[in-house]
Amino acid sequence: MANTSIYPEALSICKMFDMSDEQMQDVVQRMTKEMSMGLTKETHPRAVIKCWITYVQDLPTGKERGKYLALDLGGTNFRVLLVHLKSEYDVDIQSKSYVMGQALMTGSGKDLFDFIAECLANFVQEHRVDKEDLPLGFTFSFPVQQLGLTKGILVTWTKGFSCDGVVGKNVVELLQEAIVRRGDLRINIVAILNDTTGTLMSCAFKKHNCRIGLIVGTGCNACYVEKTANAQVFEHYQTSAKPNMIINCEWGAFGDNGVLDFIRTPYDKIVDKQTPNVGRQTFEKCISGMYLGELVRLIIVDLKERGILFKNIDSQVLKQKWKFETKFLSEAESDPPGSFRNMGQILDQCGIRGATDSDKACVRYICETISRRSAKLVACGLVCLINRMGVNDLSVGIDGSVYRFHPKYHNLLTEYMNKLLKSAVKFELVLSEDGSGRGAALIAAVASQK
Ligand code: GLC
Repeated sequence: MANTSIYPEALSICKMFDMSDEQMQDVVQRMTKEMSMGLTKETHPRAVIKCWITYVQDLPTGKERGKYLALDLGGTNFRVLLVHLKSEYDVDIQSKSYVMGQALMTGSGKDLFDFIAECLANFVQEHRVDKEDLPLGFTFSFPVQQLGLTKGILVTWTKGFSCDGVVGKNVVELLQEAIVRRGDLRINIVAILNDTTGTLMSCAFKKHNCRIGLIVGTGCNACYVEKTANAQVFEHYQTSAKPNMIINCEWGAFGDNGVLDFIRTPYDKIVDKQTPNVGRQTFEKCISGMYLGELVRLIIVDLKERGILFKNIDSQVLKQKWKFETKFLSEAESDPPGSFRNMGQILDQCGIRGATDSDKACVRYICETISRRSAKLVACGLVCLINRMGVNDLSVGIDGSVYRFHPKYHNLLTEYMNKLLKSAVKFELVLSEDGSGRGAALIAAVASQK
């Protein structure tokens, strides 16, 4: 894109976010080191990328069948799903989303799990499966130390959640207790899983070369297929008959020890300070939907205060934290070149009237800059995993609002991965719809067969 009309001050801010090829290679190398610390027994306790074992050792064969319930907690909505695996090509999914208010996300753990149990009870009644003993897969998308397929200890909250009395506890037990408190539910929790694992399973159901599950949504994380022998945190890593173990990287925490400081900007530091988990999820805060809009807003406000952007225009509303939503980046970047149709509506929603085309072009440029860095960092992460596995032909199952709705994210990611991999690896990035639901059902299917 021609930069000629972009204010020089904006260009110089955006330059801070522009990672060079060398910096990207550097990120891959640093991440490779942190990953192996997570996998290795002695270094695991102090590793920032924890590489948790998931106890999922088999990918689906495509032959899984049956009816399952799934819960999906970890984004902006909470969902209950009824998944009927009829054939490889016919999966019937019915689901209902329940909005999670701020109060529930930051209140008591008991209220949270009572709410989940209540939604579940309403759902099974509405779908007339309340008399069936259905196996349930619980997609709980936070850092969890798994001690088995049905035992997972919450290590820390992420993504704006901070409910009391859950960190350090087995969340399956907390859910089970809430179910028992109600007394009217016949539910059998057969697995707890991360959304990345669900996404990998869901993609692998159809694409047998799928080896990575990635989420770029409210948060960002990935899981991949590791050799069991390398998963030293697993008590049976040397003796297990199964060759593979899916590893939930929890790579959002990459950089929490300072190793990403060389690419962080002052704006990243401000975003971090505004979150409930200061100093944590450094990588995620440069990438995911919860934070991208805020990064754009902070740059806009800075340029306004320096008298460069929105001259003589009231932009008081934009001073409110988190006011610039991440979906605005997707919308703004969907405008064809030269048009500011969506941008006009976005500024309108932010209470800004009378912006010039130069202002609009500048805001779009900022959005593009922030999206591009996000895609570059995700590309680094994926390349690190691909190199680790040593595969040269694979599919990556991907879900999450940023990947799904951003008009250019897929292409950016492909471009940067090819650059880093020097086109030596054949990969396909596949939108894995409903990983958290379908994937949970698949894991439940595999688990309840045992
Ligand atoms: C956060 C969570 C992680 C999840 C990701 C995507 O990083 O800690 O468990 O997979 O968000 O939802």
